[in-house]
Amino acid sequence: MAFSFFFRDEYPMVLAIEKLIPYINGLSHVTFWSAGCAMGQEPYSLAILLRERLDPDLFSRIRLIASDIDTDGTFGPVIRSGRYPLDFLVRIPGHIREKYFFGDPEDPRYCRISPDIMRIVEFHTHDILSLQPIRSNVHCIICKNVMLHFNNEMRSRVWEMFYESLDYGGFLLHEHTQKIPDDMNTMFTRVVSNAQLYQKI
Ligand SMILES: C[S@@+](CC[C@H](N)C(=O)[O-])C[C@H]1O[C@@H](n2cnc3c(N)ncnc32)[C@H](O)[C@@H]1O
Repeated sequence: MAFSFFFRDEYPMVLAIEKLIPYINGLSHVTFWSAGCAMGQEPYSLAILLRERLDPDLFSRIRLIASDIDTDGTFGPVIRSGRYPLDFLVRIPGHIREKYFFGDPEDPRYCRISPDIMRIVEFHTHDILSLQPIRSNVHCIICKNVMLHFNNEMRSRVWEMFYESLDYGGFLLHEHTQKIPDDMNTMFTRVVSNAQLYQKI
């Protein structure tokens, strides 16, 4: 259930960042929410992609909330430590690995994520099916490979909750198979044809 890896779905995340830049550019605080973030591979990949693409001033205004139901309480400590076994890094492009991951001096089988990436990510335990937004006025929600486990009724209620959580004009990104149904097209508009990237109307 918690299968994930660093730089999974890199292309749609890059696409979302490119589309977001004009929308977030003048904001004093920008909030992302990675819902169902597993052990942190998704939020940390997103944070690195943001660091690579935004100017430092805009990057300094980003907060990235990472949440998961984390039933056995194991994801939170890993995400907060930013410490991963080296074999978690195999799919990360070499130049990114060298720039943002450092060997753990206490154990050569582990690495640590650079502090300027860790600084913007905060983890919270959160059950999406509580239907309680983790925060309001969020500018971008990323929820990938999570809702496939929910039935249609629950998905609709989760989209309503995401709608409530987002700021007007805020973005929502799903994995490529998770399409928002047409009967919700008064709430969300699809931004591009080659990714499940939506914008709150
Ligand atoms: C397959 S992983 C996907 C991880 C990441 N989003 C990705 O795309 O690589 C699914 C994650 O959703 C989480 N999850 C499942 N049900 C959830 C719920 N009701 N609320 C929050 N997280 C949930 C699981 O704990 C797991 O970490």
